[in-house]
Amino acid sequence: MDNSNSFAVVHNGIIENYSDLRDFLGKNGYTFLSQTDTEVIPNLIHYYFSKDEKTDDEKFLRAVKCCVNDLKGSYAIEVISPLYPDRIIVVRKDSPLVIGKGVKENHIASDIPALLKFTKDFYLLNDNEYAVIYNDYIKFYNSNLEEHTKPVKNIEWDASATEKGGFEDFMLKEIYEQPNSIRETIGSRFKLGEPCSFDDIDISKEYLSTINKIYIVACGTAMHAGLVGKNLIEKLCNIPVCVDIASEFRYRNPIIDEKTLCIYVSQSGETADTIAALKLSKSKGAKTLAISNVIGSSITREADFCIYTHAGPEIAVASTKAYTSQVVLLAILAIYFAEMLGSTDLKILEDLKKDILDLPSKIHAILDNTQELQDFAKKVYTQKDMFFLGRGTDYNTSLEGSLKLKEISYIHSEAYAAGELKHGPIALIENGITVISIITDSNLVEKSISNIQEVITRGARTLIVTNQNLPNANFDFVINIPKTNPLISPILSVIPLQLISYYISKNKGLDVDKPRNLAKSVTVE
Ligand code: G6P
Repeated sequence: MDNSNSFAVVHNGIIENYSDLRDFLGKNGYTFLSQTDTEVIPNLIHYYFSKDEKTDDEKFLRAVKCCVNDLKGSYAIEVISPLYPDRIIVVRKDSPLVIGKGVKENHIASDIPALLKFTKDFYLLNDNEYAVIYNDYIKFYNSNLEEHTKPVKNIEWDASATEKGGFEDFMLKEIYEQPNSIRETIGSRFKLGEPCSFDDIDISKEYLSTINKIYIVACGTAMHAGLVGKNLIEKLCNIPVCVDIASEFRYRNPIIDEKTLCIYVSQSGETADTIAALKLSKSKGAKTLAISNVIGSSITREADFCIYTHAGPEIAVASTKAYTSQVVLLAILAIYFAEMLGSTDLKILEDLKKDILDLPSKIHAILDNTQELQDFAKKVYTQKDMFFLGRGTDYNTSLEGSLKLKEISYIHSEAYAAGELKHGPIALIENGITVISIITDSNLVEKSISNIQEVITRGARTLIVTNQNLPNANFDFVINIPKTNPLISPILSVIPLQLISYYISKNKGLDVDKPRNLAKSVTVE
C-alpha cells in the first residue's frame, strides 16, 4: 500500500530500478515500511495521482500508466483503490497474467489452471496492455491508453484436470496420465500411411531447404527433451542441431542468422530466460518455433510458429507428462521435416510412427508393475548421493532422471555419460553408493555393462533400467521396460526414473508437488 492507503498493489516480477525510484520518492516525502521493490509501485501511483489536476473517471488509470512508464524490469501488477471500489486495474510486462471471464464476476491470476474451476473463457494480456476490470465488463487499453476490444479465448482444459482425482499427489496423477497425454499430443498429426501434418504451422519445403542449423533452446526438463529432439532431427533430417540452456544462450551472442531455425521448448511458455532467448534470435533474423503446453502463453505469442503439446495442465512442479509429450512432439516434428526434405527412407519413418503409436500401451505396461521400484526406493531413500549413467540417448534420460531426483527428493545426484566415468566420477564410487544405469541401445550394451561392472567392483548398489536381454550379472535391481525405436526410448525409460524419485520423496515424507525453493514457472531471471 502507499503511504496514504489509497492504492494497494499485488506484483509478480522484479522492479530493477526500484532503488532509484525509492530515492526519488524519498525526496518527495514518501517513506517505506519494507525493503521490497513492490512498495515503490503504490507510492509512485499515488505521486502521479496527486499531481493530476483532472478529476475524470480515467484519473486512476492515468496514474497507473505514469507509474508503469517509470518501471524497468518484469511485472504483472494488479492495483485497487478505495477511491474506485468498482474496478481492478492490471498491466503486465514479461510476467504472466491471465483474466478469467465469469458471469457477473471476473478473475485474475498468473496461470490458467488456477482459474479453471471458475471459467474456461480467458483474456490473455499482451506486454504493456492495460485492463480495467469491473464485475461484469472489462475495458482494454494499449500503452497510450487508447481503448480497444480483445477476443476472448476458450480454453478446452477440463477443471477436473486440476484436481487430484483419487491420486495422493498431482505428480503421481500426472505420471499415470502419460499414456493419455501422449495420445493427445499425437492427436491428428499423423495416421499410418499418410504424411504428418501440422495444420498449426506454415513451414514450407522451400524454407526448410534453406535451413543449415537448428537450435533447440530451453530450461530444465524442457532442455532435456530438446536433447532427445536433437538426436531425432539430426538422424532423420540430416540437419545439425545445437541444444542450449536459455540462460546461457541469451548472453553468449550465439551465431545465428536467417538460415537458422530456433526451436523453443517450454511447458509453461512463461520462462523468462526462454522468452528472452527467443526474442534475441528473432532480432538476429532467425525464424522461431515455440513448443508449449499452455495455449496463448507468452512464448507462443512471440514466436513465428507455434505448436502445442496438449498434455493438459501440469500442476506438480516437477515436470513429467510435459516432458514425454515434448519428446513425442519433437519426434513427430522430425518426421514431418524428414518427409518434406526426403531425407529419410519412408519405410523407416513409417516404422517410427508405428512405434510412437504404440507408446501409450507400453507406458501402461510399465505403470502396471511398480513394486520393484517401490522396494528400491525403500532401500535407498536415506542416501545422500546417487549416480545416473547412460550412453547415447540413455545419457539424456540419465540427465532427466537425475534432475527429478534432485528436485523432489533433495538427494544430490549426478548424471554421467557412462564413458566419462573413468575421467573423474569413478573416484567417488565407494561401498554402498547407488548407481542407476539406463541401457536401451543394443549397440551399446557391452560398453555399458563394462562400465557398470567397474562400479560394482567398487561396491556400488546398482539398478538397471533396460529393454535388452542382459547377460547374467550381479545387478541388485533390474527394471525391464518394453522395446521401442532407440530414438524414442527415453519416453519409456524415463517413466521408472520418475517413479523412483516419486517413491523416494514419499519415503522421506516430503511435499512431492511443491518442492522447496522451486517454482513451476520461473518468470524472473
Ligand atoms: C522450472 C521447473 C522445471 C522446468 C523448468 C522449465 O525450473 O521447476 O520443472 O523444467 O522451469 O520450465 P518450462 O515451463 O519452460 O518448461
